[in-house]
Amino acid sequence: MTDLIKRAVDDITAANHVVALTGAGISVESGIPPFRGKGGLWEKLDPMEFAHIDSFMRDPAKVWDILIREMKGVIDTAKPNDAHIALYRMQKLGKLQSVITQNVDGLHQSAGVADVIEFHGTFARQFCLKCGKTYETGMINLTQIPPTCECTGILRPDCVFFGEAIPENEMARSQVEASQCDLMLVIGTSAIVQPAAFMPVIARENGAKIIEINPEPTSLTNRISDYLIEGGAGSIMKQIADELEKAAGHAK
Ligand code: APR
Repeated sequence: MTDLIKRAVDDITAANHVVALTGAGISVESGIPPFRGKGGLWEKLDPMEFAHIDSFMRDPAKVWDILIREMKGVIDTAKPNDAHIALYRMQKLGKLQSVITQNVDGLHQSAGVADVIEFHGTFARQFCLKCGKTYETGMINLTQIPPTCECTGILRPDCVFFGEAIPENEMARSQVEASQCDLMLVIGTSAIVQPAAFMPVIARENGAKIIEINPEPTSLTNRISDYLIEGGAGSIMKQIADELEKAAGHAK
Protein backbone atom coordinates (compact mmCIF):
# COMPACT_ATOMS: atom_id res chain seq x y z
CA MET A 1 0.00 0.00 0.00
CA THR A 2 1.47 3.38 -1.00
CA ASP A 3 1.88 6.19 1.51
CA LEU A 4 -0.85 8.21 -0.22
CA ILE A 5 -3.35 5.33 0.04
CA LYS A 6 -2.51 5.00 3.74
CA ARG A 7 -2.97 8.78 4.07
CA ALA A 8 -6.36 8.55 2.34
CA VAL A 9 -7.45 5.73 4.67
CA ASP A 10 -6.50 7.86 7.68
CA ASP A 11 -8.26 10.94 6.26
CA ILE A 12 -11.46 8.98 5.47
CA THR A 13 -11.40 7.36 8.93
CA ALA A 14 -11.20 10.80 10.55
CA ALA A 15 -13.93 12.29 8.33
CA ASN A 16 -17.60 12.57 9.33
CA HIS A 17 -19.27 13.35 5.98
CA VAL A 18 -17.62 11.85 2.90
CA VAL A 19 -18.89 12.63 -0.61
CA ALA A 20 -17.55 11.24 -3.89
CA LEU A 21 -17.64 13.20 -7.16
CA THR A 22 -17.18 10.74 -10.02
CA GLY A 23 -16.61 11.04 -13.76
CA ALA A 24 -16.25 8.76 -16.76
CA GLY A 25 -12.87 7.49 -15.54
CA ILE A 26 -14.48 5.43 -12.76
CA SER A 27 -16.35 3.41 -15.41
CA VAL A 28 -13.40 2.88 -17.78
CA GLU A 29 -12.57 -0.45 -16.08
CA SER A 30 -16.19 -1.49 -16.73
CA GLY A 31 -15.53 -1.13 -20.46
CA ILE A 32 -17.14 2.28 -20.93
CA PRO A 33 -14.75 4.63 -22.77
CA PRO A 34 -14.08 8.07 -21.28
CA PHE A 35 -14.90 11.25 -23.22
CA ARG A 36 -11.43 12.83 -23.16
CA GLY A 37 -7.87 11.53 -23.17
CA LYS A 38 -6.75 8.11 -24.42
CA GLY A 39 -9.59 6.31 -26.25
CA GLY A 40 -11.98 9.14 -25.45
CA LEU A 41 -15.29 9.39 -27.33
CA TRP A 42 -14.65 13.04 -28.14
CA GLU A 43 -11.42 12.02 -29.89
CA LYS A 44 -13.69 10.38 -32.52
CA LEU A 45 -16.81 12.55 -32.43
CA ASP A 46 -17.24 16.32 -32.08
CA PRO A 47 -19.34 16.78 -28.90
CA MET A 48 -20.84 19.99 -30.28
CA GLU A 49 -22.07 18.05 -33.34
CA PHE A 50 -23.38 15.03 -31.44
CA ALA A 51 -23.94 15.90 -27.77
CA HIS A 52 -25.40 19.41 -27.95
CA ILE A 53 -29.15 19.80 -27.58
CA ASP A 54 -29.32 21.98 -30.72
CA SER A 55 -27.65 19.28 -32.82
CA PHE A 56 -30.01 16.66 -31.39
CA MET A 57 -33.11 18.75 -32.17
CA ARG A 58 -31.79 19.54 -35.66
CA ASP A 59 -31.13 15.89 -36.55
CA PRO A 60 -32.24 13.37 -33.89
CA ALA A 61 -31.74 10.44 -36.28
CA LYS A 62 -28.04 11.29 -36.74
CA VAL A 63 -27.39 11.63 -33.00
CA TRP A 64 -29.31 8.42 -32.30
CA ASP A 65 -27.49 6.57 -35.07
CA ILE A 66 -23.94 7.70 -34.32
CA LEU A 67 -23.81 8.43 -30.57
CA ILE A 68 -26.75 7.07 -28.65
CA ARG A 69 -26.86 3.63 -30.28
CA GLU A 70 -23.14 3.12 -29.40
CA MET A 71 -23.70 4.36 -25.83
CA LYS A 72 -26.63 1.94 -25.42
CA GLY A 73 -24.57 -0.99 -26.66
CA VAL A 74 -21.76 -0.27 -24.19
CA ILE A 75 -23.92 0.61 -21.18
CA ASP A 76 -26.25 -2.39 -21.67
CA THR A 77 -23.38 -4.81 -20.99
CA ALA A 78 -21.31 -2.82 -18.45
CA LYS A 79 -21.02 -4.07 -14.85
CA PRO A 80 -19.81 -2.20 -11.74
CA ASN A 81 -16.03 -2.54 -11.22
CA ASP A 82 -13.93 -2.60 -8.02
CA ALA A 83 -14.17 1.19 -7.71
CA HIS A 84 -18.00 1.30 -7.76
CA ILE A 85 -18.08 -1.64 -5.33
CA ALA A 86 -15.52 0.02 -3.03
CA LEU A 87 -17.80 3.07 -2.68
CA TYR A 88 -20.66 0.71 -1.74
CA ARG A 89 -18.38 -0.99 0.82
CA MET A 90 -17.52 2.43 2.26
CA GLN A 91 -21.23 3.27 2.48
CA LYS A 92 -21.81 0.02 4.46
CA LEU A 93 -19.09 1.15 6.91
CA GLY A 94 -20.81 4.52 7.29
CA LYS A 95 -17.86 6.17 5.52
CA LEU A 96 -19.70 7.46 2.42
CA GLN A 97 -22.80 9.66 2.52
CA SER A 98 -23.42 10.35 -1.19
CA VAL A 99 -22.05 10.12 -4.70
CA ILE A 100 -22.39 13.04 -7.12
CA THR A 101 -21.85 11.43 -10.50
CA GLN A 102 -21.43 12.98 -13.95
CA ASN A 103 -21.97 9.51 -15.42
CA VAL A 104 -25.26 8.33 -16.90
CA ASP A 105 -24.43 4.60 -16.81
CA GLY A 106 -26.23 3.74 -13.54
CA LEU A 107 -23.26 1.67 -12.31
CA HIS A 108 -23.16 3.27 -8.84
CA GLN A 109 -26.78 2.21 -8.29
CA SER A 110 -26.05 -1.28 -9.65
CA ALA A 111 -23.20 -1.55 -7.10
CA GLY A 112 -25.70 -0.76 -4.31
CA VAL A 113 -24.88 2.86 -3.50
CA ALA A 114 -28.03 4.37 -1.95
CA ASP A 115 -27.64 8.11 -2.46
CA VAL A 116 -26.53 8.80 -6.05
CA ILE A 117 -27.04 12.30 -7.42
CA GLU A 118 -27.10 12.03 -11.23
CA PHE A 119 -25.73 15.46 -12.13
CA HIS A 120 -26.04 14.85 -15.88
CA GLY A 121 -29.21 12.76 -15.74
CA THR A 122 -29.45 9.11 -16.65
CA PHE A 123 -29.31 6.96 -19.76
CA ALA A 124 -31.62 4.44 -18.09
CA ARG A 125 -34.68 6.46 -19.13
CA GLN A 126 -35.87 7.96 -22.42
CA PHE A 127 -38.75 10.44 -22.74
CA CYS A 128 -41.01 11.60 -25.55
CA LEU A 129 -40.39 15.10 -26.91
CA LYS A 130 -44.10 15.45 -27.70
CA CYS A 131 -46.05 14.02 -24.73
CA GLY A 132 -43.31 13.52 -22.12
CA LYS A 133 -44.06 9.81 -21.59
CA THR A 134 -40.99 8.01 -20.19
CA TYR A 135 -39.64 4.63 -21.27
CA GLU A 136 -36.93 2.38 -19.83
CA THR A 137 -34.02 2.46 -22.29
CA GLY A 138 -33.70 -1.32 -22.13
CA MET A 139 -37.31 -1.68 -23.31
CA ILE A 140 -37.05 0.36 -26.52
CA ASN A 141 -36.10 -1.28 -29.78
CA LEU A 142 -33.71 0.43 -32.13
CA THR A 143 -34.96 -1.13 -35.35
CA GLN A 144 -36.43 2.30 -36.05
CA ILE A 145 -34.05 5.28 -35.62
CA PRO A 146 -34.92 7.61 -33.97
CA PRO A 147 -37.25 5.53 -31.75
CA THR A 148 -40.71 7.00 -31.27
CA CYS A 149 -43.40 7.08 -28.61
CA GLU A 150 -46.88 5.57 -29.02
CA CYS A 151 -47.98 9.15 -29.75
CA THR A 152 -45.41 9.16 -32.61
CA GLY A 153 -43.23 11.75 -30.78
CA ILE A 154 -39.44 11.22 -30.93
CA LEU A 155 -37.72 9.77 -27.84
CA ARG A 156 -34.60 11.29 -26.23
CA PRO A 157 -32.37 10.14 -23.36
CA ASP A 158 -33.05 11.66 -19.94
CA CYS A 159 -29.44 12.89 -19.97
CA VAL A 160 -28.24 16.50 -19.89
CA PHE A 161 -26.98 17.51 -23.33
CA PHE A 162 -24.48 20.32 -23.73
CA GLY A 163 -26.49 23.54 -23.90
CA GLU A 164 -28.97 22.31 -21.25
CA ALA A 165 -29.23 23.24 -17.57
CA ILE A 166 -28.43 20.79 -14.77
CA PRO A 167 -31.75 19.55 -13.27
CA GLU A 168 -32.64 21.87 -10.38
CA ASN A 169 -32.96 19.19 -7.71
CA GLU A 170 -29.64 17.55 -8.59
CA MET A 171 -27.90 20.93 -8.66
CA ALA A 172 -29.32 21.95 -5.28
CA ARG A 173 -28.54 18.63 -3.62
CA SER A 174 -24.99 18.58 -5.03
CA GLN A 175 -24.31 22.07 -3.69
CA VAL A 176 -25.58 21.06 -0.24
CA GLU A 177 -23.49 17.87 -0.20
CA ALA A 178 -20.40 19.70 -1.45
CA SER A 179 -20.77 22.42 1.19
CA GLN A 180 -21.52 20.02 4.06
CA CYS A 181 -18.90 17.34 3.44
CA ASP A 182 -15.56 17.35 5.25
CA LEU A 183 -13.93 15.09 2.68
CA MET A 184 -14.54 14.79 -1.08
CA LEU A 185 -13.11 11.97 -3.19
CA VAL A 186 -12.80 13.20 -6.79
CA ILE A 187 -12.58 10.03 -8.88
CA GLY A 188 -12.04 9.74 -12.63
CA THR A 189 -12.95 13.19 -13.84
CA SER A 190 -10.95 15.59 -16.02
CA ALA A 191 -12.65 18.42 -14.08
CA ILE A 192 -13.19 20.35 -17.31
CA VAL A 193 -16.99 20.50 -17.56
CA GLN A 194 -18.79 23.05 -15.42
CA PRO A 195 -20.68 23.29 -13.13
CA ALA A 196 -19.78 19.74 -12.02
CA ALA A 197 -16.10 20.68 -11.75
CA PHE A 198 -17.03 23.46 -9.31
CA MET A 199 -18.27 21.04 -6.65
CA PRO A 200 -14.73 20.36 -5.33
CA VAL A 201 -14.19 24.14 -5.15
CA ILE A 202 -17.34 24.54 -3.01
CA ALA A 203 -16.19 21.67 -0.80
CA ARG A 204 -12.74 23.15 -0.35
CA GLU A 205 -14.15 26.61 0.38
CA ASN A 206 -16.11 24.96 3.19
CA GLY A 207 -13.02 23.40 4.67
CA ALA A 208 -13.25 19.89 3.18
CA LYS A 209 -10.21 17.80 2.32
CA ILE A 210 -10.11 16.99 -1.43
CA ILE A 211 -8.50 13.72 -2.60
CA GLU A 212 -8.18 13.09 -6.35
CA ILE A 213 -7.90 9.58 -7.84
CA ASN A 214 -6.83 9.66 -11.48
CA PRO A 215 -3.95 8.29 -13.61
CA GLU A 216 -3.07 11.89 -14.43
CA PRO A 217 -3.27 15.36 -12.90
CA THR A 218 -6.17 17.71 -13.68
CA SER A 219 -6.83 21.44 -13.29
CA LEU A 220 -7.77 20.70 -9.65
CA THR A 221 -4.41 19.14 -8.82
CA ASN A 222 -2.08 21.30 -6.66
CA ARG A 223 -4.74 24.02 -6.65
CA ILE A 224 -7.92 22.61 -5.10
CA SER A 225 -6.99 19.01 -4.29
CA ASP A 226 -4.95 18.21 -1.19
CA TYR A 227 -3.33 15.34 -3.07
CA LEU A 228 -3.66 13.16 -6.16
CA ILE A 229 -3.36 9.38 -5.91
CA GLU A 230 -2.14 8.51 -9.40
CA GLY A 231 -3.50 5.30 -10.90
CA GLY A 232 -6.66 3.44 -11.87
CA ALA A 233 -9.72 3.87 -9.67
CA GLY A 234 -10.38 0.12 -9.43
CA SER A 235 -7.21 -0.93 -7.65
CA ILE A 236 -6.84 2.27 -5.58
CA MET A 237 -10.42 2.25 -4.32
CA LYS A 238 -10.30 -1.50 -3.59
CA GLN A 239 -7.17 -1.03 -1.45
CA ILE A 240 -8.83 1.84 0.43
CA ALA A 241 -11.99 -0.21 1.08
CA ASP A 242 -9.90 -3.23 2.12
CA GLU A 243 -7.97 -1.14 4.69
CA LEU A 244 -11.13 0.55 6.02
CA GLU A 245 -12.80 -2.84 6.51
CA LYS A 246 -9.68 -4.24 8.23
CA ALA A 247 -9.65 -1.23 10.58
CA ALA A 248 -13.37 -1.70 11.26
CA GLY A 249 -12.75 -5.41 11.99
CA HIS A 250 -14.93 -6.48 9.07
CA ALA A 251 -14.10 -9.50 6.94
CA LYS A 252 -12.91 -8.45 3.45
N1 APR B 1 -9.43 5.35 -13.17
C1 APR B 1 -9.58 6.66 -12.80
N2 APR B 1 -9.58 7.68 -13.69
C2 APR B 1 -9.41 7.36 -14.98
C3 APR B 1 -9.25 6.05 -15.45
C4 APR B 1 -9.26 5.01 -14.47
N3 APR B 1 -9.09 3.71 -14.81
N4 APR B 1 -9.09 6.08 -16.80
C5 APR B 1 -9.17 7.38 -17.16
N5 APR B 1 -9.35 8.16 -16.08
C6 APR B 1 -9.49 9.61 -15.99
C7 APR B 1 -8.85 10.38 -17.11
O1 APR B 1 -7.49 10.66 -16.81
C8 APR B 1 -9.69 11.67 -17.12
O2 APR B 1 -9.17 12.63 -16.22
O3 APR B 1 -10.87 9.89 -16.07
C9 APR B 1 -11.05 11.20 -16.61
C10 APR B 1 -12.10 11.13 -17.70
O4 APR B 1 -12.35 12.45 -18.12
P1 APR B 1 -13.57 12.73 -19.12
O5 APR B 1 -13.57 11.70 -20.19
O6 APR B 1 -13.48 14.17 -19.48
O7 APR B 1 -14.86 12.44 -18.25
P2 APR B 1 -15.64 13.43 -17.29
O8 APR B 1 -14.69 14.26 -16.50
O9 APR B 1 -16.62 12.61 -16.53
O10 APR B 1 -16.44 14.36 -18.34
C11 APR B 1 -17.38 15.26 -17.79
O11 APR B 1 -18.14 15.77 -20.04
O12 APR B 1 -18.74 15.14 -22.16
C12 APR B 1 -19.22 15.48 -20.91
O13 APR B 1 -21.30 14.83 -20.07
C13 APR B 1 -20.00 14.36 -20.31
O14 APR B 1 -20.24 13.82 -17.96
C14 APR B 1 -19.29 14.07 -19.00
C15 APR B 1 -18.54 15.37 -18.74
